[in-house]
Amino acid sequence: MNSDDPSTAHIEILLDARQIALRIEQLAKEIAEARFSELLVIPILKGSFMFGADLLRALHTAGLKPEVDFIFLSSYGTGTQSSGRVEVLREPEAGMKGRDVLILDDILESGRTLAFAKDLIAARGANRVSTCVLLDKPVERAVDICADFRGFDCPDVFVVGYGMDIAHRYRELPYVGRIM
Ligand code: IMP
Ligand code: MG
Repeated sequence: MNSDDPSTAHIEILLDARQIALRIEQLAKEIAEARFSELLVIPILKGSFMFGADLLRALHTAGLKPEVDFIFLSSYGTGTQSSGRVEVLREPEAGMKGRDVLILDDILESGRTLAFAKDLIAARGANRVSTCVLLDKPVERAVDICADFRGFDCPDVFVVGYGMDIAHRYRELPYVGRIM
């Protein structure tokens, strides 16, 4: 792969924009049926920025009026192997005491990131802490956690696009793909 080449010819599309949009619409309905109260949605940056933006608009269409804040966590560096250590780069500002919080992540792999975010938000006094991931890669799980809402099962390959990167590239792609 030539890293100066902006071409994406070597990326195989696993989930196209339409498949993602349809699933997000369904996820929003599932979330609306869960009857959260005073819902605060917290996408995990950076990877969830695109998923968060689309899911939040779908939640609005599904009749919800969530508040939104962000948490910025880092575990990956620039490689494809998790460092196994999660670092907080930014905490949410919103008060969480007694509230229902829905944490969003792009992909659930080892589970360390989501477990860490859940613990942190529970420790801030949230009432009900739920999780929603676009992709679930269960093969790589190191921590016993499953997401309450899941978009798609993901094969055990490194994926990029729709917010997800490899070495800071490909986050802008409107689809999820694998590098060939
Ligand atoms: P976990 O802590 O191992 O569950 O990993 C979660 C984080 O690692 C996600 O938020 C992603 O940012 C990143 N990640 C895991 N797998 C992939 C992948 O296949 N492509 C891109 N990022 C990934
Ligand atoms: Mg991430």
